[in-house]
Amino acid sequence: NFIFACLLFILSPCRLFHGCNRLLTSQIISYYDSVNRCEKELPEYFNFASDVLDKWLQLEKDGRRPANPAFWWVNDEGEEVKWSFEELGFLSRKTANILSETCGLQRGDRVIAVLPRVPEWWLLNVACMRAGIVFIPGTSQLTAKDILYRLQASKAKCIVTNDTLAPAVESVMSECRFLKTKLIVAKGSRDGWLNLKELFAVTSADHKCVKTRSRDPMLIYFTSGSTGSPKMVVHSHGSYGIGFATSGRYWMNLTPSDIMWNTSDTGWVKAAWSSVFAPWINGSCVFVHSLPEFKPATLSRYPITTFCTAPTAYRMLVQHCLSSYKFMSLKHCLSGGEALNPEVMEQWKIQTGLDIYEGYGQTETVTICANMKGMKIKPGSLGKAVPPYDVQIIDDHGTVVPVGKEGNIAIRVQPERPFCMFSEYMDNPEKTAACMSGNFYVTGDRGIMDEEGYVWFVGRSDDIINSSGYRIGPFEVESALIQHPAVMESAVVSSPDPIRGEVVKAFIVLAPAFVSHDPEKLTQDLQQHVKKVTAPYKYPRKVEFVQALPKTATGKIQRKVLRNKEWGKA
Ligand SMILES: *[C@@H]1O[C@H](CO)[C@@H](O)[C@H](O)[C@H]1NC(C)=O
Ligand SMILES: *[C@@H]1O[C@H](CO)[C@@H](O)[C@H](O)[C@H]1NC(C)=O
Ligand SMILES: *[C@@H]1O[C@H](CO)[C@@H](O)[C@H](O)[C@H]1NC(C)=O
Ligand SMILES: *[C@@H]1O[C@H](CO)[C@@H](O)[C@H](O)[C@H]1NC(C)=O
Repeated sequence: NFIFACLLFILSPCRLFHGCNRLLTSQIISYYDSVNRCEKELPEYFNFASDVLDKWLQLEKDGRRPANPAFWWVNDEGEEVKWSFEELGFLSRKTANILSETCGLQRGDRVIAVLPRVPEWWLLNVACMRAGIVFIPGTSQLTAKDILYRLQASKAKCIVTNDTLAPAVESVMSECRFLKTKLIVAKGSRDGWLNLKELFAVTSADHKCVKTRSRDPMLIYFTSGSTGSPKMVVHSHGSYGIGFATSGRYWMNLTPSDIMWNTSDTGWVKAAWSSVFAPWINGSCVFVHSLPEFKPATLSRYPITTFCTAPTAYRMLVQHCLSSYKFMSLKHCLSGGEALNPEVMEQWKIQTGLDIYEGYGQTETVTICANMKGMKIKPGSLGKAVPPYDVQIIDDHGTVVPVGKEGNIAIRVQPERPFCMFSEYMDNPEKTAACMSGNFYVTGDRGIMDEEGYVWFVGRSDDIINSSGYRIGPFEVESALIQHPAVMESAVVSSPDPIRGEVVKAFIVLAPAFVSHDPEKLTQDLQQHVKKVTAPYKYPRKVEFVQALPKTATGKIQRKVLRNKEWGKA
C-alpha cells in the first residue's frame, strides 16, 4: 500500500492521496478511466510500464489478482510462452538494458521493429517505455525500399527484425546514416547484428524505469493516406497509455480474469490497442497466436473470453459451420478496422449466441465510437462517441450539420484538444494542419448521427459515389448485397457512365453454393434484391463476379484499387 500511496502522490494532487491506503485493484482502472473521461486531470508524469504494469505486478505478488497469465503466446507446433506480470517485468527490464546499455540508445531515440507475432515484440514494446525510447512498429510486408524510407524519415538509430528481413535492411544500410545498431530475433547469429536471444543470457534485469511526461512521445506509426508518402503519426505516453482505459473497460469489457485475443499483426495500431494497452490497463491477459491465418479451433481450444477480429474474418467465419465448435469461455466479441455488415452480426448471434460489439477508430486516435457493454446495439452503426471525444458530423466548412444529415465524422479539438490523440504528423506541419477544419479534427470518413447520438458509417470520403448528383455510400449497398444468400463478400465502387457520370458497380465474391449459377440471372436477382432492401437508386447498375477482393494486410477492402481499374487509372 505504501507503493500505491507514493504512486498516487506522484500522479496527482492530494485530493487523491486521501484514503488511498485502501486502494483496491479496481482503482487502477477507475483512476485512469476518470482521467480518460477528463473527470480527473492528466497526470504530468506517466509511464505505462511503471504506472500500470508494475502495479499489476505488485498486486499479483500480493495475491490480489486472479491466477491468470499476463501474456500467453502459442503457435501451431504446440510451443507456448506464458508470462506473469512478474516475468514480463523481469524480461522487459532486461530488454530495456539491452537497448540502453548494449545498443547505447538514449531516451528519445527511435527504434523500428519489424517482426511477426513473436513474444520479443511485446518485450521490446515495454522495454522502450521503460527506457523512454520511441517505438516504431512496422508491418511484415515491408520491402527494402519501404524500410529505407522508414529508416530515413524516422532517423531511427536501431532496427529490430528477423532472418527473413535482415538482407533487405543490409541492402539499404549504407544510405541510413542515423542507423547505429541492428538487433536480430533469431536462433543463430548473423554478422553485423546483435542477437537479442543471446543477449538475454548475459544482461541484468536491474533497470530503473525513466520518468516520462504524459505528453512525451512514446510511439510512432507510419500510415499511408491516399496520396503522398506515409506519414508518421506520433502518440504520447498518455495518449495510448491512458487513452484506452475507457474503451478497455466499457467496450472491451475487460477484467483481470479475462483473456483477450486479437488477431491483428504487430505492425498495425490494432496490436497496440487490443494486444497491449486496453487489456493490460485492467490487468487482463493478452493472448497471441503466431499464425497469420485465423482458425476458429483456437477459440475452442484456449479459454479465450474476449475476441476481436476484422469484419472480413467474421464474414468468413459465419460461412463455416460454427455449431461444430464449442466456444466454452468466450463471452464478449468485438470488431473494428472496417464497418461490419448487420447481416454478419445477426448470423454470428444465431450461431454463437453472442453479440458483436463494433468499435471505430484510426491510427491518429484511440477508440472514437463504440457499442459499449450495456448499450442498446444498433446493428450497422458504429455506436456512440467514447469519452472524452466529442464526436460531431460536420460539413466541409467545419459547421455541425443537423441530426440525420450526412457529413464528415469529426472530433472537437477546440477549445481543448483531447490528450488521447496523435500529437502531430512528425516533420509534416502541412498535413497536420490539413486534417483540421474549424474546431474539429476531420477523420476523412463520412457518416450520419441519429437522434440518440449513434454514428452511422457511410464510407471513406474518397469512396462515396456521385451518381447523377445522388451521393451513395458503398457500405450501405454492400450491407444490402450480403443479405442475399449468393453473396459472400462484395466491394462497391464508382464506375464511369456516359449519361450519369458515375454509376454504382459491385464486385461480388459468390458463396460456394452459387458459383455455378447463371451470372446474368444472378445479376438481375441481386439488383432486384438491393432495390427491395434499400433506396432503389442505390442498386448496382454494373455487377462483376470475382474470386477475391483486393485487401490490405489487415483485411480492409481496397476499394481504391477497384475504382482506379474502373476509371482506367494505374
Ligand atoms: C477492471 O478490473 C476491476 C477489478 O480489478 C473490476 O472491478 C472491473 O470491473 C474491471 N473491468 C471493468 C469492466 O470495469
Ligand atoms: C520474419 O518476419 C517476417 C515478417 O514479419 C515473417 O514473414 C517471416 O516468416 C519471419 N521469418 C522467420 C524466419 O521467422
Ligand atoms: C483486432 O484486430 C483486427 C485486425 O485483425 C482489427 O481490425 C481490429 O480493429 C482489432 N481490434 C481492436 C479492438 O483493436
Ligand atoms: C455530383 O455530380 C454532379 C453532376 O452529375 C455535380 O454537379 C456535383 O457537383 C457532384 N457533386 C460532388 C459532391 O462531387
